[in-house]
This record gives sequence, C-alpha cells and structure tokens, in this order.
Amino acid sequence: MTAREPEHDDTPAAERRRRRYHEFREELRALLAGEPDPIARMASAAALLMEALPQASFVGFYRAVEPGLLVIGPYQGPVACLRIRFGQGVCGAAASEGRSILVPDVHAFPGHIACDSASRSELVIPVRDGSGALAAVLDLDSRKLAAFDGLDREELEAAAGEILTIDPA
Ligand code: SME
Repeated sequence: MTAREPEHDDTPAAERRRRRYHEFREELRALLAGEPDPIARMASAAALLMEALPQASFVGFYRAVEPGLLVIGPYQGPVACLRIRFGQGVCGAAASEGRSILVPDVHAFPGHIACDSASRSELVIPVRDGSGALAAVLDLDSRKLAAFDGLDREELEAAAGEILTIDPA
C-alpha cells in the first residue's frame, strides 16, 4: 500500500486563502527585515494577522518565559489571561506537546481556558526560535465555530517558522 498525500483543497476559495497567506508572508518579511527584537517581530506579526484573518477575534503570542510557564506577549483583540501553565488549556497543551492544536469547538475541548466567553473556536501554533527551542505559542481565537481549518494550520505553521528567525542583515 502506498502512503497517500493529504488531500489538497484546490477550490477557488482555498486558492484565494493561500494567496492571502502568501501576501501576509511577503508583508511580514518586508516588515521584519533586519529587526532582531523578538517583541517587535511578534507585535508586527500579530497586527498583520489580525488584518489578514477577519474571522479572528484574538491573535496573540504567549511566551515561554520559564520552564512550564507561558506569559502573554504582543496581541490584538480583547484583554486576555496573563499566565498559562504548560498543560493548561489549548495554549498550554500546544506548548507542552510541541505541536499545533486546532479546536473547531472550544466547548468540546476539556480544560479550555475562556479568556473571552464569546470565543467558540481556536488554533494554537508553536513558535520556535533560531535554535529550534519553543519560544512562544501563537494563539488565534474566533467567535465563530470552526473558523479555522487545516489550511490555516498548514499556512500558519509555515509562517511561524519565520517569526523569530533572524534574517541576515
Ligand atoms: N483559550 C486559550 C487561552 C488564551 S485566550 O483565549 C486568549 C486556551 O485555552 O489556552
């Protein structure tokens, strides 16, 4: 039996979304070129993503500041919880497992932390630094059910690889 590639969604809507992500990546690269400060980089990425993803009610970073602890970083949207322990909620699970987590319905995720009671779906992506260590997680929330899907996960995982990577000056 041969391994099958995951199905590629090539509908016009999916292609439009991919093009939008491509534009976002180009804008991000242009904005971050030569900027070594991680907070400046995360803040810029959050602002660009909030514009690129109208379904998002919150886009922000939780930084892995000490072993087992995430602390809020740059974000756009309503005020959010300040500290999340590894293993707690979707962000803490993504941090401790080192993988992205897509939650189409937050009410079905045991332990989900409701910083915004109107939040209905969520996508969390690990963000690594140049050495490959977990530096933060990127948290996207929406007040719509199933607002994010595998395409968002795939594109944001690829983009996350560049957010804290310092480009040569
Ligand atoms: N819902 C997240 C907490 C962060 S806020 O939604 C901004 C979680 O369960 O990890």
